[in-house]
Amino acid sequence: MNDLDALVQTAQVDFAQATTPAQLEDAKARYTGKSGRLTELLKGLSALAVDEKKTRGAAINEAKQRIEAALNERRRGLAEAELQAQLKAEALDVTLPGRRRGSAGLHPVSLTLERIEQIFGSMGFDVADGPEIETDWYSFTALNNPENHPARSMQDTFYVDMQDDAGRPLCLRPHTSPMQIRYARQHAARHAATMAVGQPMPEIRVIAPGRTYRVDSDATHSPMFHQCEGLWIGENVSFKDLKVVFTDFFRTFFETRDLELRFRPSFFPFTEPSAEVDIAFASGPLQGRWLEVAGSGQVHPNVVRNFGLDPERYIGFAFGMGPDRLTMLRYGVNDLRLFFDGDLRFLSQFN
Ligand code: DAH
Repeated sequence: MNDLDALVQTAQVDFAQATTPAQLEDAKARYTGKSGRLTELLKGLSALAVDEKKTRGAAINEAKQRIEAALNERRRGLAEAELQAQLKAEALDVTLPGRRRGSAGLHPVSLTLERIEQIFGSMGFDVADGPEIETDWYSFTALNNPENHPARSMQDTFYVDMQDDAGRPLCLRPHTSPMQIRYARQHAARHAATMAVGQPMPEIRVIAPGRTYRVDSDATHSPMFHQCEGLWIGENVSFKDLKVVFTDFFRTFFETRDLELRFRPSFFPFTEPSAEVDIAFASGPLQGRWLEVAGSGQVHPNVVRNFGLDPERYIGFAFGMGPDRLTMLRYGVNDLRLFFDGDLRFLSQFN
């Protein structure tokens, strides 16, 4: 075998070993590139005699054509392999069942919140919304909490590393009770002119559902949970009205007439007297057990003053209940954390 045949053969082997177009172009450069082996041979021609140049030149050209043919052959081979790989990777099995669009539904706690709003709405209550990052003043001070009340402690309340425009400390609201102050102050300001001429202010009747936060976490407590605040203030609103409203509410909420209510004396800084509200079902799986469902009470005169109202004239009650708890009771769920895990196997049962 002459040197040119040998060169063609090495080139063929070289090209065959290239497995990507880039490798192939590198291999090509080793033969026909600027200082490739074939190029070097062509350069060497100038040193030969005229006769020799002719035959040697023709032989080198023939070798070059064979190398280029091998190169093109390999290029086609690689392109074909690439196409096959792509076809395989993007293969579509048209016999597979299609993906269905899933149907969405409301979260069980959202269903409860809607229900609460609807029932209280039918009793003439407005629905109010307010900030979850709240000042210390609205969260505690305005609600008659003494300066060193344990609820203010860092163990119970998430403080935020910021202050409001007036330099007051901020926290994630530990209850929805600040909404009593926010709503009542706006209401009082809106009707200040009426009250100035001695006319009674239209009653305040509002609920404020929403998210609340506390440093607490177990099967019945979550660091984020829901509350629904309620407030009814007028010239003549009493505990009797609270009992009527609550009895009606819980019977409608749980869709049963077989439900009793009891008030148990308790303490909250913002109410006096204060009571916990328990309900008991006369039938069903929870029959006969007293279940705590809300805190409540007659709004404390200091709080009425912070509403911007005269406690000698305006009186009423407030309550706070837990929509998460109500959802657990209504659907028989025993672990609060299920509500916030986002597991569709659990959540899709409510729709
Ligand atoms: N804010 C209270 C709590 O988080 C609940 C509460 C109790 C609200 C009595 C009220 C009330 O409005 O009157 O535990």
